[in-house]
Formats: sequence, C-alpha cells, structure tokens
Amino acid sequence: MSPRRAACATLLLLLGGACDAEDPAAPHVAGGDPRRGHAVILEAGCGACHVIPGVPGAVSWVGPPLMEWSRRGYVGGRLPNAPENLVAWLLDPRSISPGSAMPALGLTEEQARDAAAFLFTLGATRLPPVPPGMQLGPQEGGPREAPRLRPRG
Ligand code: HEC
Repeated sequence: MSPRRAACATLLLLLGGACDAEDPAAPHVAGGDPRRGHAVILEAGCGACHVIPGVPGAVSWVGPPLMEWSRRGYVGGRLPNAPENLVAWLLDPRSISPGSAMPALGLTEEQARDAAAFLFTLGATRLPPVPPGMQLGPQEGGPREAPRLRPRG
C-alpha cells in the first residue's frame, strides 16, 4: 500500500468510514461556478420542469429528473455527457436534439457554464460503500439531501 493510501485508510478508520470526498474525476466546467449556477437555475425556472436536488421548488416531472447528473452517460440522449456538451445543450437544446420539448431559455454563455457546473456537482460525491445487507438508519443514506418529490395524487 502506498503511504498516501495508507494515510487515507487510517483517516477513514478514524472517521468511522464517514469520509466522503469530491470525486477528482468529476467533470470540471471551465469558467463555471456552481454557486452562481444554483442561482441561475433558480432564476431561470428550471425547476418548473425538472427535479433538481438542492434547488427549492424543483420538483416537476415534465422533463427528466437531473439528480446524480454527473453520473449520466448522455445529454438529451444525443451527446456524451461532457461539460462542453452540457453547456451547448443549456444554450440551445433544439440545436442538438431537433424537436426536443426543452426550449432555449435565453441563458448567456456564462450562465450556462455556471448552471452546468452546478449540475456536475450532483452525484459527484463518493459515498463510502455500504456492506451488503446492512440496514440504513434515517440519517445514513448519504450526505445529500433527498429530493423532495411532490406526492402523487
Ligand atoms: C419547459 C420545460 C423545461 C424547462 C423550463 C427546462 N427544461 Fe430541461 N428539459 C426539458 C425536457 C422536456 C427535457 C428532455 C428533452 C429531450 O431529451 O429532448 C429536458 C432535458 C434537459 C437536460 C438533459 C436531460 C437528460 O436526461 O439528458 C438537462 C441537463 C436539462 N434539461 C437542464 C435544464 C436546465 C438547467 C434548465 C434551466 C436553465 C432547464 N432544463 C429548463 C424541459 C425543460
């Protein structure tokens, strides 16, 4: 075991395994700021059509839910889910998927970069593995707040 790995394993032991880290492999959106992106998403009203964890009121099922975004394989079922492709999608979905039900929302390039940076934080936290068969307590599902879904009815 390398000294670095050994140090990490010791840390994990000391913290009772509750050590989670931003995945260094999580895509980085050049020039994008996730905190500004959260505000952009709120102001643009993305939550009128999407479930987006951490965004108040974003509980709609008109479009696909955006939870765990960084783990998705494709954007709009057309392009590999890479930062520049997501930015392009947010600027003009129909230029990528003609006839898509998602309209262009008039975002500036900077706003699209910020919103994309926020989306790539979703699902980017590595959780410690849960041993098979282990029961999870109420606070043990991971640090991310569960999306508040609107009840059916
Ligand atoms: C009027 C409803 C509507 C609004 C508002 C809207 N979207 Fe969408 N969005 C959709 C629909 C419908 C799709 C699925 C379109 C498709 O796959 O062609 C979609 C797809 C997406 C996708 C790709 C999803 C996937 O699974 O590949 C992303 C990312 C996305 N939207 C982000 C956003 C963001 C960020 C905003 C706000 C800036 C936003 N959307 C606003 C309706 C909307």
